[in-house]
Amino acid sequence: MQAYKKLYSEAQQDPEGFWLEQASRLDWFTPPKTAANVRKNGMADWFPDGKVNVSHLALDAQINAGRGDQVALYYDSPVTNTQNHYTYSQLREEVAAFAGALKAQGVNVGDRVVIYLPMIPQAAIAMLACARIGAIHSVVFGGFAAHELAVRIDDAKPKAIVTASCGVEVNKVLEYKPIVDKAIEEATHKPSSVIVHQRPECTAELNNDGDIDWKDAVEKATPAEPVAVPSTHPLYILYTSGTTGKPKGVVRDHGGYATALNFSMSYVYGLKPGDTFFTASDVGWVVGHSYIVYGPLIFGCSTVLYEGKPVNTPDAGAFWRIIEQYKAKAVFSAPTAFRAIKKEDPDGKFLEKYDISSLERIYMAGERLDPATYEWTTELTDKPVYDHWWQTESGWPMCANPVGIEAAKVKPGSSTFPVPGYEISVLDPLGKSVDNGEEGAICVRLPLPPGCLTTVWEDEERLHNSYLKAFPGYYCSGDGGYIDKDGYVFIMGRTDDVINVAGHRLSTGEMEEILASHPAVAECAVVGQPDDLKGELPIGFVILKNAVDITQEQLQDELIQLVRSKIGAIACLKTLHIVPRLPKTRSGKILRRIIRQLVQGNEVSVPSTIDDPTSIDALKQTLS
Ligand code: COA
Ligand code: AMP
Repeated sequence: MQAYKKLYSEAQQDPEGFWLEQASRLDWFTPPKTAANVRKNGMADWFPDGKVNVSHLALDAQINAGRGDQVALYYDSPVTNTQNHYTYSQLREEVAAFAGALKAQGVNVGDRVVIYLPMIPQAAIAMLACARIGAIHSVVFGGFAAHELAVRIDDAKPKAIVTASCGVEVNKVLEYKPIVDKAIEEATHKPSSVIVHQRPECTAELNNDGDIDWKDAVEKATPAEPVAVPSTHPLYILYTSGTTGKPKGVVRDHGGYATALNFSMSYVYGLKPGDTFFTASDVGWVVGHSYIVYGPLIFGCSTVLYEGKPVNTPDAGAFWRIIEQYKAKAVFSAPTAFRAIKKEDPDGKFLEKYDISSLERIYMAGERLDPATYEWTTELTDKPVYDHWWQTESGWPMCANPVGIEAAKVKPGSSTFPVPGYEISVLDPLGKSVDNGEEGAICVRLPLPPGCLTTVWEDEERLHNSYLKAFPGYYCSGDGGYIDKDGYVFIMGRTDDVINVAGHRLSTGEMEEILASHPAVAECAVVGQPDDLKGELPIGFVILKNAVDITQEQLQDELIQLVRSKIGAIACLKTLHIVPRLPKTRSGKILRRIIRQLVQGNEVSVPSTIDDPTSIDALKQTLS
């Protein structure tokens, strides 16, 4: 692995030279001379004297380079029987027009725009349009309920919300506008306009002050040119689950992010401009931001925006069909998607119908790629399958197989090596590096490379408390794992109250807050339970208040419905146990670690601080 080691050490020895060179591959309005300013807290502001615009890089610069007629975006929607595409020139036209429409609504540089859209081209268009005028977008996943949207509206304080009349989930039409209206009603902050894209599947009523039809807004607008913003100007806020009910607004810049994504497109994904990249995720997640929208377009690829599922839309051959149809060279999704395909089509009968010879590599992330799914996918497709590890906070992979330089031998269960720019350490609780093979907290030495979060939106204290406080000088990822003797990194799972359900990052702490808000609930705990398909599912334990007049069944139904209505159906909390007591410390703190160990079928390590050791047997009985 000489080439990898050389590149990695170049980035380590001379990060400024390394990243300035990477940045110079982009079309800046003012090329940067300074690589980074490192702040007091150890975080870097990348390319502080450079001026750039990501929408310009993703569209205008590509057209200037001769890609105007190349397909920028394929839209494939089996749920609405629609397929169409946009060349780079066509996409720029749509983006410039919508950017003009936003400006006409008073959206200016630095204003926030919340985007609550399903997987339709308008999502990418709205994102790029915000970027074009220097507005900061915050995309909220369409599966979140009104309350989640309201929390984000109150934090981001958007001038406008962009939405659609509906989303389509397999065969259900889900109206979006009533959700947006409800969220605005709940939120303290009121946006001045709501721009609605009307879909043929349902028409939204535009009765409120500030409601505008997307088509009308665009017809009247003057197309907007990209504005030059400082490299450090926020491009977006993307909220992600933390350990409490208040999500963290991860902030990303223009210049550092574009540089990192551009580098990753060849280094991690081994792609060339003109190739087709199929990322099956959702624009509401970081994977969608980075590898459905920004990464492929900044690099000059064609991207596929897929409104469908891995199965049932219409069958387990959906991914293979798309790969054949658009000649995708790389595909990227969560392991749960491949487990869903495996469940429906274990012998690959659907795969036989399609020619996937264009495909060179399969990528997975969002949760640990379990060895069984790795083996099945590799054997079935006869293609290299790569796990890679990253987070909303990093914005691009932190550990990956360096296929663009030289592919490393795959070790199932490992996301391979740290990507240049990331110095990964495994630390014990006292902050000391552990030996190879020993598990600990996975941390990254500060400063982080370009592309990572710059802060938590308007909350530097939370940035410090969530990521920087635990291990001074390091970014604490919240994941645990180890590095083996060959330098392979193994990410084993979260060390906090975050779980990954079907590739969706959720907070058990938030679910607990919602359960505890029910008048009958005295105390509760929610932990992740292993699940063959979704990786993890939440499971809840509830202790009732005294003299509560409600049947167990009724309470269970009410609580499950409560979580569903507050977070959304994706929370998938379906198992709830009403219990008389839970393992606690003598000071009355619920021992969630023990509950987690029991639920996961692991050996239980009983702390000396436990109040009543028999509570463990009682819980075992509940679970049996
Ligand atoms: N809008 C509204 N509702 C949504 C939604 C969306 N965008 N996405 C999911 N939901 C709803 C579903 O309709 C379902 O509702 P129901 O309980 O009323 O049936 C619920 O949320 C759970 O959905 P999901 O977790 O998707 O389960 P599923 O059984 O429908 O599908 C998988 C299972 C594995 C096929 C699916 O979860 C999947 O494709 N996962 C991959 C996710 C992914 O790409 N993550 C990004 C990481 S790279
Ligand atoms: P998100 O911020 O939604 O992308 O979720 C990030 C979290 O998903 C990480 O902190 C990990 O817990 C998990 N994760 C993502 N990719 C991987 C991977 N390749 N291996 C193990 N865990 C992963």
